[in-house]
Amino acid sequence: MDRYEITGGRRLAGELRVQGAKNSILPILAATVLTKGQCAIHNCPDLSDTALTIDILRTLGCRADWRQGSIFVDAGGLSHLELPGELTGKIRSSIVFLGPLLARCGWVKIAYPGGCRLGPRPIDLHLDGLRQMGAFVKEEEQHLLCRVPEGLKGARIILSFPSVGATENLMMAAVLAKGRTTLINCACEPEIVDLANFLNRCGAKIYGAGENTIEIDGVCVLHGCEHIIIGDRIAAATYLAAASMTGGEITVSGIEPENLMSMLAALQKAGNEVVWEKNRCFLKAPDHLRALAQVRTMPYPGFPTDGLPLFLSLAAVSRGTSVFVENIFENRYSSIPCLQRMGASIRQEGKVAVVEGCALLHGADVCAEDLRGGAGLVLAALAAQGVSHVEGIEWIERGYEYFCENLTALGAEIRKK
Ligand code: UD1
Repeated sequence: MDRYEITGGRRLAGELRVQGAKNSILPILAATVLTKGQCAIHNCPDLSDTALTIDILRTLGCRADWRQGSIFVDAGGLSHLELPGELTGKIRSSIVFLGPLLARCGWVKIAYPGGCRLGPRPIDLHLDGLRQMGAFVKEEEQHLLCRVPEGLKGARIILSFPSVGATENLMMAAVLAKGRTTLINCACEPEIVDLANFLNRCGAKIYGAGENTIEIDGVCVLHGCEHIIIGDRIAAATYLAAASMTGGEITVSGIEPENLMSMLAALQKAGNEVVWEKNRCFLKAPDHLRALAQVRTMPYPGFPTDGLPLFLSLAAVSRGTSVFVENIFENRYSSIPCLQRMGASIRQEGKVAVVEGCALLHGADVCAEDLRGGAGLVLAALAAQGVSHVEGIEWIERGYEYFCENLTALGAEIRKK
């Protein structure tokens, strides 16, 4: 297995165009099965999860070609309505195929998804919503069987929590349903807006994406379209944090700064100079980073749970005490034991972690246990004195395109071995 060897203490500086959003490309690829025609999707990140999602499309009988950052899908030949565990087990977000397949074909059999270590990730909200739209759901030991013999019907659905995946699944199911669907208390993440923009370009009638209530008027058919994926706000925050923790300065482009405002505010709070304009963001690190006081993860526009492990590492090299409260997932703190091994002072109990910053971290051999926790370890290694080895990089590379190459171009000493 490959690992990263990182010699810390190098100042990161330069410019970087951020990859397309991982959390947009996966649902948008799933949404192509709703269309009859060719979809051209640009700014697609080169990630293992993207490749796996293309495998799923091909298994379903769709044509999918991936050329130079663009994916061309023709779902006209969709023929197969079973998604086996060999595929869904590798990628949790495969559950977003449920709504679109049911809407397009009225029947689907899908093995339970996997691919995540963030604790239990139930899908009750997805299933409850689909039931309210008329679907029959049979939960078997390994599979879910869903059918809707008379077609999905519009419904008024109140989500008890603004789940990103459930909002996406129900929005996709509703675009071909009969009548109007109203989704109340839905997720407002920028990736939901990106998905709605894609679907609307294909002829869907979705209103209010990005707000708490989304209304969808069902249409009979969707055609193909051309779409550019938005920039990845978590990847952008990762590179900004890397420059910040190494006393550097960086300009990241290809993102809408408004989409990462809570993380930009935290970077400012830590003493960084942060300036943004449309599509780009500049950061200059201070001589000494300050503590973040309190960071509470929340649904968007609150501080994202995916950003927590990045800022945990940043807090470890800042002066003063920072308190983190994780409100979305269990097991978000996977990187703490490794950070402690690098000299960080962190206490955690349940959803709260207290970081006494200003420790000078030292290199160590550590292992990523999930995507963002792994990215947090790389950040810590970049800021630490001496050499670190980071194992488990297959987790990290699920979410970061050309991670090693990008960091090297910014001046990091990192090698994949
Ligand atoms: C998506 C993102 C992930 C991000 C998360 C929260 C993708 C591919 N992944 O994941 O990177 O960390 O949003 O911003 O876009 N829940 C239920 N029942 C459900 C669904 C969810 O109880 O039916 C709970 C979950 O256990 C979790 C919370 O709701 O505690 C948030 O989950 P959700 O917003 O659905 O996250 P994902 O869509 O899985």
